[in-house]
Order: sequence, then C-alpha cells, then structure tokens
Amino acid sequence: PIVLRCPDADAASRKVADLITEAITAKPAIVLGLATGATPIQTYEHLVAGFRNGRVDFRHATSFNLDEYIGLEAKHPQSYRYYMQQHLFDHVNFSPMRTYVPDGCADDPVAHASAYDQEIGRVGGIDLQLLGIGRNGHIGFNEPGSPAASRTRVVDLAEVTIKNNARYFDSPDQVPKKAITMGIGTIFEAKQIVMLATGASKAKVIRQSLLDPPTESVPASLLQLHSSVTFVLDEAAASELP
Ligand code: F6R
Repeated sequence: PIVLRCPDADAASRKVADLITEAITAKPAIVLGLATGATPIQTYEHLVAGFRNGRVDFRHATSFNLDEYIGLEAKHPQSYRYYMQQHLFDHVNFSPMRTYVPDGCADDPVAHASAYDQEIGRVGGIDLQLLGIGRNGHIGFNEPGSPAASRTRVVDLAEVTIKNNARYFDSPDQVPKKAITMGIGTIFEAKQIVMLATGASKAKVIRQSLLDPPTESVPASLLQLHSSVTFVLDEAAASELP
C-alpha cells in the first residue's frame, strides 16, 4: 500500500476529498464505494464545499455504500442511509436513483445482499472505494474471521462493535446486532481503495494492518494483497509506524 501521512485529521480528510475529486474529474460517470462512521464526516464536508465552489460534480456519478444495519429504516437517525443523506447526498447533485445503500429493512435480506453485488457488477464495478477501519481491523462490517472471498451478505456484528455503537442509541437493546455488508471479496474488486484512519485509537490496528502478515483475523491487513491501496493517516493513527 501507499501510505500518506498527514499532520492532522483535517489535512487527512482534505487529502481524501482531493483524491475523490480528482477521480471524479478524470471519470465523471465514476462508481464510488462510500463509508460511514465518524472518520469520513470531514471528507464529506470538504466534498460538499467543493461542490458549492464548482470544483466537483456528482451528476453522472453512482455510489454504493459499504453497509447498513438490519432493522433500521432509512428515516432512522442512526441508519447509514440517513447518515449519507445528512452528510453528503442532500447537499450535492447525485442522482437519487444512483445512490445505493443496502436496505436494512428488505423483506429478504439474503436475496437483497446478493442483488446488491449484482447491481455493482451491472454498472461495471467500483472505481474508488473509501474505507474506514474498526479498532478490531474490520472493514465494512467484515469482522475478524470474515473470509477473504466473502460477498455482500448478512453478518452478525462483533460484541466490541455493538459496544462501540451503543453510545449512538438510547438503550443497549436498541443497538442492531446484524448488518448487511459488502464482502471482503466485493471490496477487493474495487479498482482503487482509499483507507482513511485518524486518531490514536486506530494506531495499533494500522500498524497491524500494514506491518503484520495479511490475515483474516485482521481484515484490513488483507488490503496488503490489493494492487492499488492508499492509506491516508493523520499523525496519531500513524504513530506506531516506523
Ligand atoms: C462504515 C464502516 C465501518 C467503519 C469503522 C470505523 O461504513 O463500514 O467499517 O469504517 O467502523 O468507524 P469510525 O470511523 O466511526 O471509527
């Protein structure tokens, strides 16, 4: 992987927004893979600012989000569809027909998951996939032990992920225990992958992901095996690297 070290989270977020902007400029009908969570919020802010300044245009772009909680409707404030509308889609000119997020309330989530992969294939695959990383090395909701060849599917969230998410919900029993996530194999088909990680809580897993041998027990370490991956880190996340 290419590793870009930035002085702070804002610089790292700006760098990722620039990489996405360059990719859209080079290919206006780009297919983006997008992530949620705390990490990319500033990147989306920079993209919204870029759209308002006329530097980036999403008119011809398509996006596929990595994951969604099972059981949360689009209008639930903790759903990833809601997050994407709030942080990006409502403020830029994506065609609403071309922003895909797995449907956490699909009648048949298993069928929906495989249809999601087919839809990605139908538009020619993902050009640029944005990722964040969980403290346990998860990418999307591919928790440790997820097979490298896994496809978009229904998964159980790890206990630690459920605990990390609990702060966003009123009570622990409201925290979803399952999700639909793109698989590691699905993510690997992206032509280019950009991993954004910021903050000291990610330093250890960033070191493991970049320096330890690739293993399914740290899903992000498998990214070493992809031919076009860029890790964009702030100093805190890079602090355990040589
Ligand atoms: C989000 C996702 C997750 C997050 C990861 C890090 O779509 O797939 O893998 O990227 O949990 O989350 P934050 O950024 O909140 O630390």
